Amino acid sequence: MAAPSGPLPGSFPNPFQDPALRANPYPLYAMLRSSNPVFRVPLPFEGPGVVILSRQADVESVLREGRVSVDRLRADVAQRFRAFLPPQFLGEGGPTRSMLMLDGVDHTRVRGLVNKAFTPRRVAALEGRIRGIVGDLIDGVRSAGVMDLMHDLAEPLPAIVIAELLGVPAEDHRRFKQWAADLVNALGTGGPLTRGPEFEAAFEALLGYLRGVIEERRASPREDLISGMIAAQEDRDALSDAELLANSFLLLVAGHETTTNLVGNGVVALLRNREQWERLRADRSLLPNGIEELLRYDSPVQATVRVPTEDIPLGDEVLPLGALVVCLIGAANRDPAAYDEPDRLDVTRERVQHLSFGFGQHFCLGAGLARLEARVVLDALLEHAPDLALIRDEVEYRPNPLLRGPQALPVSF
Ligand code: HEM
Repeated sequence: MAAPSGPLPGSFPNPFQDPALRANPYPLYAMLRSSNPVFRVPLPFEGPGVVILSRQADVESVLREGRVSVDRLRADVAQRFRAFLPPQFLGEGGPTRSMLMLDGVDHTRVRGLVNKAFTPRRVAALEGRIRGIVGDLIDGVRSAGVMDLMHDLAEPLPAIVIAELLGVPAEDHRRFKQWAADLVNALGTGGPLTRGPEFEAAFEALLGYLRGVIEERRASPREDLISGMIAAQEDRDALSDAELLANSFLLLVAGHETTTNLVGNGVVALLRNREQWERLRADRSLLPNGIEELLRYDSPVQATVRVPTEDIPLGDEVLPLGALVVCLIGAANRDPAAYDEPDRLDVTRERVQHLSFGFGQHFCLGAGLARLEARVVLDALLEHAPDLALIRDEVEYRPNPLLRGPQALPVSF
């Protein structure tokens, strides 16, 4: 395999570091869609490189495609810099062993076993508890009449819920939140290649913590998801310790920042389009559809990647074997070929088939939980904070452009 050479990818000019673009990437997406829908990123070395897809039909077809791998490390660009990756990233419990990075039968097997524990019933049973947590969080700031919606509501809620679901003590949720945020921020600002000490420390801390919980649950199971995953069996097959660790880690991290950003982006979108907030207030039965529209309008996950395992024709183009194909979900969701007036927020829009939870084999396992949490939070805000308003017009976004959401959101109510 090619030895590491040239500059680290993190030191390539990255347009998303521009705060103006982070605040509103949609004009750039529109330009890509119309003038360069299969965009080959210029790189200072030969090879299949990085290709960015921005049209809805192209993104969907690649996510449906069987001739691609989700294992990013198979991409030529990843192989070139493999030696720079932190060993924890590649080792036991690291994200490379989770279902998100497995293909074919390996993926089906692990996803099936996790699914046995992560049932819709287990999720639905959480509704009352989620209402309780949201009520407590709102009560905590009610008398002030102002809050940072991210810090006071959107961040703690999913952290508490996933911690409780997995069976890790809820008191630890702030620590989890910090570890998850450190990991996610490192991944967004150049990836694990440009990791700093926070990345390594967060990784080790989170893995060490989960190892302890798994050991405890093996010895004395409880009514939680980690115990459920330990017990899950299919034809006498079960998850190994490494798989348990990697997938607990995935659930903990995947369920945090994404749901936080759905709430944050959703509130920003509704308050900037006040008539849509009022529509939901007037008829809360529109909420489930409204949440799908909010997911489409400003997706918490802006992109995912695939690696072709052979040359794949796409229209007049070819996605080369070994390329890192970036599927721009955020751009696909605003494609005028798929939606009338895609830049308009409309909570009554019909047939909102966004790609914000992905598509195909790897469709988000936590979609039901994320939808439930978003519904409970927005319902509570519409009920208890009808005059909710942004205190500042500008919103500062988090550093990771792939996981899009406000850094802070001061609001009055
Ligand atoms: C609004 C919130 C969320 C969004 C936008 C979101 C988005 C996504 C997307 C786009 C994928 C597919 C990635 C790909 O195909 O490469 C995915 C997969 C996944 N998500 Fe979510 N997610 C959210 C919440 C959650 C929650 C709450 C959990 C769990 C507690 C979760 C667990 C997972 C898992 C385990 C996978 C991997 C599925 C597989 O590989 O088969 N997600 N999510």
